[in-house]
Amino acid sequence: MTEAWWPDDDDTDRPLPSSVRVRVPAKINLHLGVGPLRADGFHELRTIYHAISLYDEVTARRGDTLTLTMEGEGAGDLALDESNLIIRAARALADTAKVAAHARLHLRKSIPLAGGLAGGSADAAATLVACDALWGTNLGRDELARIAADLGSDVPFLVHGGTALGTGRGEAVSPVLARAHVWHWVVGIADGGLSTPDVYRELDRLRSGPDGPAPLDDAGELMAALRQRDPAVLAAALGNDLQAAAISLRPALAEVLEAGRVAGALAGLVSGSGPTCVFLAAGAEDAARLAAELEKAGVCREVRVAHGPVLGARSV
Ligand code: C5P
Repeated sequence: MTEAWWPDDDDTDRPLPSSVRVRVPAKINLHLGVGPLRADGFHELRTIYHAISLYDEVTARRGDTLTLTMEGEGAGDLALDESNLIIRAARALADTAKVAAHARLHLRKSIPLAGGLAGGSADAAATLVACDALWGTNLGRDELARIAADLGSDVPFLVHGGTALGTGRGEAVSPVLARAHVWHWVVGIADGGLSTPDVYRELDRLRSGPDGPAPLDDAGELMAALRQRDPAVLAAALGNDLQAAAISLRPALAEVLEAGRVAGALAGLVSGSGPTCVFLAAGAEDAARLAAELEKAGVCREVRVAHGPVLGARSV
């Protein structure tokens, strides 16, 4: 079958591609300040998102129905039916743009499931960008981010990437203007995941007790640290209100953080709701050394190096 082609310089009139491959990063939170529980079941957040170089890939090809296949992390465990965020993202875009949700989608996954790295949200963001190009709906990143917000609190950030302030339940994102600088991270991936709602519930429980963990200050110190571009300064400013709750549910995480400290990390913290832990290194060589030490300590299922910030969901 030949595809129609209209000679025009307008983006919307290009021939539609037969296949689109989109790469999307994982996120960590450099600052995750959790406010009170709202009436809608979400917590008010003030967070600094940071996209790092661990990637999933979603490929969208033409099809007569909507199908999803996958390979990699979590294959066999992740449901590929209508409950999957990828399918929900494709349907949400098709509904908004009033097109048929027809595509053969394939996920190559390397971001762990339920790891606190927003892997599922990343896949949803990648699907929006991939199907937008496949179907020629050309909604633009801001409109895609609006659809993304209904799919999950972290999805709009993963459409954009970089380093950004998240407010509301995390879905309202605005870029953090910082001079270009590359930060080096070591990512310690745990065996098994943690449920995000369980971790938030555990934080509420800890806070209702007499010795509940004190909430973080606003993100001002973290923003100032980003501007200074000094890893030691950033290390002192990192913070995550969910960390105490994640450790309470998974005490072994304290050992992972301690192993990172012993191995020479400038700082370590639980990523999002965990159980992944991330460690800041002074540079690429330090990160490689730290990763090797952490690997030797045998406290993680897998150790990877990454850098950030990187772009959000993009065609490759
Ligand atoms: O938005 P998302 O689907 O990723 O949220 C998953 C769960 O995490 C929510 O159902 C809620 O229990 C918890 N959550 C929260 N406050 C937020 C974001 C998530 O309590 N701001």
